[in-house]
Order: sequence, then C-alpha cells, then structure tokens
Amino acid sequence: MCCNILPRVSCLLLWISFAAGDVGYFWHVTDLHYDHTYWTSRLSCLEPVPKPGKYGDYWCDSPWALVQDSIASMANITADVDFILWTGDSVAHIADANLTLNLNLEIVANITETLNTSFPQVPVYASLGNHDFYPSNQADYNQSEIYDQVSEMWENWISNQTQVEQFRQGGYYVARIAPKLRLLALNTNLYYTNNKLTANVSDPAGQMAWLDDQLKDARSKGDKVIVTGHIPPSVLTPGLADWFYPKHKTQFVDILLQNSDVIVASLFGHDHSDGFKIIQDETGSRAVTQFTAPSVTPWTFRTASKTADPHNPGIRLVTYDRNTGLHLGYEQYYINLTDSNRNGRTAWTRLYSFTEAYNVSDMSVASLRKIFSLMASDKGTVYSNKYCTYSVVSNYPINCTEAARADIYCGGLHYDLQEAQDCKHKYLASLNGASGLSLNVFVVTGVILVKISAFILQ
Ligand SMILES: *[C@@H]1O[C@H](CO)[C@@H](O)[C@H](O)[C@H]1NC(C)=O
Ligand SMILES: *[C@@H]1O[C@H](CO)[C@@H](O)[C@H](O)[C@H]1NC(C)=O
Ligand SMILES: *[C@@H]1O[C@H](CO)[C@@H](O)[C@H](O)[C@H]1NC(C)=O
Ligand SMILES: *[C@@H]1O[C@H](CO)[C@@H](O)[C@H](O)[C@H]1NC(C)=O
Ligand SMILES: *[C@@H]1O[C@H](CO)[C@@H](O)[C@H](O)[C@H]1NC(C)=O
Ligand SMILES: *[C@@H]1O[C@H](CO)[C@@H](O)[C@H](O)[C@H]1NC(C)=O
Ligand SMILES: *[C@@H]1O[C@H](CO)[C@@H](O)[C@H](O)[C@H]1NC(C)=O
Ligand SMILES: *[C@@H]1O[C@H](CO)[C@@H](O)[C@H](O)[C@H]1NC(C)=O
Ligand SMILES: *[C@@H]1O[C@H](CO)[C@@H](O)[C@H](O)[C@H]1NC(C)=O
Ligand SMILES: *[C@@H]1O[C@H](CO)[C@@H](O)[C@H](O)[C@H]1NC(C)=O
Ligand SMILES: [Zn+2]
Ligand SMILES: [Zn+2]
Repeated sequence: MCCNILPRVSCLLLWISFAAGDVGYFWHVTDLHYDHTYWTSRLSCLEPVPKPGKYGDYWCDSPWALVQDSIASMANITADVDFILWTGDSVAHIADANLTLNLNLEIVANITETLNTSFPQVPVYASLGNHDFYPSNQADYNQSEIYDQVSEMWENWISNQTQVEQFRQGGYYVARIAPKLRLLALNTNLYYTNNKLTANVSDPAGQMAWLDDQLKDARSKGDKVIVTGHIPPSVLTPGLADWFYPKHKTQFVDILLQNSDVIVASLFGHDHSDGFKIIQDETGSRAVTQFTAPSVTPWTFRTASKTADPHNPGIRLVTYDRNTGLHLGYEQYYINLTDSNRNGRTAWTRLYSFTEAYNVSDMSVASLRKIFSLMASDKGTVYSNKYCTYSVVSNYPINCTEAARADIYCGGLHYDLQEAQDCKHKYLASLNGASGLSLNVFVVTGVILVKISAFILQ
C-alpha cells in the first residue's frame, strides 16, 4: 500500500525495518542517592566509616564521584539510546533535620544537568522518588513547590506542555516514545505507606483515573504502553514486604490487570535490588511483568540485626522493539566498589545479559513463567542462586537461603503479600523433605501455572 505513495526504495527499506524488527535501546538508571556530606559528616552511613573510598562505601550513599562516573560511563558504553529512564531517589538517606526542600531541589537539578551534559540529544523520562520530597516521603496529592520547580527542570525532556502541566498537578505524565508506543512516568510515591498526606485519599492526585484513561485510550488507538515509576506495586523479594497502602495497591493492580493487554512492561526502582516478577490474577490469564533495576547507590536496608549482603552499583541497558514495545532483553552493568576504590578508577563491566543468564528469548510474561517454572523444578538451586547473586549486583556467587528462594519464587508469582506468605509456608514445607511432596507444573490452556502441591500433608 505504501508503495503507491513512497518511492520504491524507501518502501523497501520501510518493509525491511518492519520485518526485521525495529530495535532500540534505553538506559535505566535509578536511586543515585547523592550524599552531599560524604566527605564531611557522612550522614547517610549506617555505621562509622573511618576510611571512605573514592567511589563510596557499602554502608553509605553515593559520593558525587560515583554519581558523575556512573552517568559518564553510561554515555561511554553507549550514547546511542532512544531515551533514558531515570526512576528517582536522588537525595541521600539523611534525616529531614539535616535537609531542606531547597537542598533537595538543588540535588535533583545537579543530577538533571549531569545527565543533560552527558546525553545532550537524548530525552530523559524521569520520576521523583520518595527521598526527593521534603519532608521525606511526603508526596503531595495536589500542587506543591517540588512539582512546580521540577517541572521547569524537566520540561525540555517532557517536551509536551500539556504533560508539563500534568506533572505540575501531580508529578506524573505520559510521553510518546515511538509512533505506537507510550511511556507513563507515574508518581507511585502517592501510595507509599510512609506518606502521611495520602493515607486516607482514595485517588490521590487523580492518578488512578488518569492511568485507567491512558490505558483505555492506548487500546482504542492500537498503542502499547510502558509503565514506569519509582516505587513498585509488587512485594519486595527477597524479604516479602509491601510498599503500597493496601487499598491503593488493590486499586492500582486492578487497573494494570484490566489493561494488561496494552502494557508491555512495568519498570521501577526503589528496591535497591535487581529483581523481576509477574503481577497476575488468580488464573494467570491477565499478567504484567515487573522489573526493578538495581540502584547506583550501594546503600542497603539492613534488618534490626544489622545483616545484609553488600551490593555494588549498577546501571542497565534495555533493548526493545520500537514497533511492538516488546522488551527483548537487558545488559546489566556494574562496578565492584572495593576494586574501584582500590584502583582509584572504575571499570564498568557487563555483569550479565538477562536472556543469556536465564536462557529466555525476551522479557515477556511467557519468559518469566519459564524461569519461575524452572525455579520450581530445580528447587531453586540454579536459577534462584543466580537471582540472589544478581540481586546484590555481584559476580561472586551467593547461594540463596531456603527462605530467600521461597521469597523469590512466591513473591515472583503473587503480588499480594498474604498470598505470597501462604505460598512461602507451603514452599518451605515442601523443601523440608516430607516424602511424597513435589513441585508440580500444570499446563492450563497454554498458560503454565506453577503451583506448589505441598499441602497434601496430613
Ligand atoms: C570508555 O570505555 C572504554 C572501553 O570501551 C574504556 O577503555 C575507557 O576507559 C572508558 N572511559 C571512561 C572515561 O570510562
Ligand atoms: C543534623 O541535624 C541535627 C538536628 O538538628 C543537628 O544537631 C546536627 O548538628 C546536624 N548535623 C549536621 C552535620 O548538619
Ligand atoms: C550543585 O552544583 C553546583 C554547581 O556545580 C555546586 O556549586 C553545588 O555545590 C552542588 N550542590 C550540591 C548539593 O552538591
Ligand atoms: C488542588 O488545589 C487547588 C487550588 O490550590 C484546588 O482548586 C483543587 O480543588 C485542589 N485539588 C484537589 C484534588 O484537592
Ligand atoms: C539541556 O541543555 C540544553 C543546552 O544547554 C538546554 O537547552 C536544555 O534545556 C537542557 N535540558 C534539560 C532538560 O535540562
Ligand atoms: C500533548 O499531549 C496532549 C495530551 O496528551 C495531546 O493531546 C497532544 O497531541 C500532545 N501534543 C503534542 C505536540 O504531541
Ligand atoms: C485516616 O483515617 C483514619 C480513620 O478515619 C484515622 O484514624 C487516621 O488518623 C487517618 N490517617 C491520617 C494520616 O489522616
Ligand atoms: C535453553 O532453553 C531451550 C528451550 O527454550 C532448551 O532447549 C535448552 O536446552 C536450554 N538450555 C539450557 C542451557 O538450559
Ligand atoms: C568485590 O570484589 C572483592 C574482590 O576484590 C570480593 O571479595 C567481593 O566479594 C566483591 N564484592 C561484591 C559485593 O561483589
Ligand atoms: C553453593 O552450593 C553449591 C551446591 O550445594 C556448592 O557446591 C557451592 O560451594 C556453594 N557456594 C557457596 C558460595 O556457598
Ligand atoms: Zn532509593
Ligand atoms: Zn525509594
């Protein structure tokens, strides 16, 4: 059809690029958490650090050298990307008493400028994180100074004035990244259990209604959608914890699942841990993938007993099909912080490729189902150990504990915390050797539903 209006050669090229798949790249960078006191009082550090390293310390947020180096290294590895996804948390883990709104805004502005300097031609689709707000976590459900000021910093990236105005109203917007592909940059801090402003607001900032409208509108126009934001809706794994208020979580996940046919992926930060999950209904017939990219900051949440595995800074390069939006894979890059500090320079290296490491062809729901079903059949010894090792952005193999394996598997298939916990009990019971128990894989109408039949216990 196009050959009637276009010259033959361009028609042929158009056809070839369509048939071959039109492949694009984007960087996903998140949770830089710049500690502006790193060289003085080190207010973010979880324990005293007498000899701070040039690029940071495992128990502190990032010095400027790490922020600067990670962004410059993204451009050095490849500047030829369609866009950059930057999912928030620029400010360090420092008490409100030692921060101000103006300081937080200055930090967001400095990182905005650093990204713009390294990638002058590339749009950045950015979201705020819970630590960017002042006081911390208090994302407003109506206009506020942070939305006003940040909308000015980001307006050339957002580019559409209607959407800049949308950001000013609630900290979220939509961007068109290809003719048939939209990216939603959401403000999920509105649903965070540490946000006192929104606890009793049924649809803070009208984002739920807007999200539903966007997804329905995309369907009616034949568009696909990438959903992004800072805080993910699913449970944290390993660890099994909820980030959203229960009512907001139910409402939000329902909207995603009702429109799962138009969503190609959902991408978040906040966990400071590399992970992936399927958000799905009971039958598995409606499902959306959720990927969390690891943080640049090495800072990790530690339990009361002060235990946690140290983790390295990471940046992620994602490959996608510009026509269908299908996420084809990603390359996870990292530095080992100890080695970087010892050498006085960084050497960002590919840690793993998603498709190679997990032996799948893309980042679709079907591929994640294949991974989780293998986790069940090998009882987690191979794939869960990879997941555990990569979750701390390391190439030093970490064997998952049984509890971590259960979390990865159950949190990976159940977005609901109670269901994930029930699944975990059954999973652990089945590992603990009661005879006659097994992990079965059922195939139901082409959808592999992995179920643990551990409850045939007396
Ligand atoms: C850029 O990458 C090359 C390898 O492709 C490496 O040799 C060089 O050191 C890097 N430069 C910087 C400034 O990171
Ligand atoms: C941090 O805030 C506390 C409480 O206001 C204050 O006592 C302390 O001096 C501050 N520390 C720094 C380094 O600003
Ligand atoms: C932000 O950048 C300006 C200009 O380089 C610098 O003077 C200021 O100290 C930076 N702010 C912080 C908090 O590091
Ligand atoms: C937001 O504030 C404006 C005026 O500041 C007000 O007109 C509007 O009703 C508020 N919206 C919500 C959802 O509270
Ligand atoms: C990036 O830098 C250019 C050139 O200085 C400027 O025009 C543009 O507004 C900047 N964009 C952002 C988002 O900071
Ligand atoms: C800007 O966004 C609005 C609302 O989504 C849309 O109607 C309009 O076409 C967009 N403008 C441009 C220039 O893309
Ligand atoms: C939310 O509403 C409940 C019940 O009305 C009330 O007890 C609680 O204090 C409210 N929370 C906030 C943060 O306003
Ligand atoms: C990878 O998956 C394919 C099927 O998709 C299978 O044939 C092959 O054996 C797998 N390779 C490994 C190393 O598991
Ligand atoms: C970093 O490398 C050192 C060896 O230089 C190794 O002992 C350590 O486990 C690595 N740390 C992480 C978190 O990968
Ligand atoms: C992990 O487990 C395997 C198999 O049980 C074992 O061979 C290996 O030494 C363990 N590795 C670590 C780092 O504990
Ligand atoms: Zn964070
Ligand atoms: Zn966060």
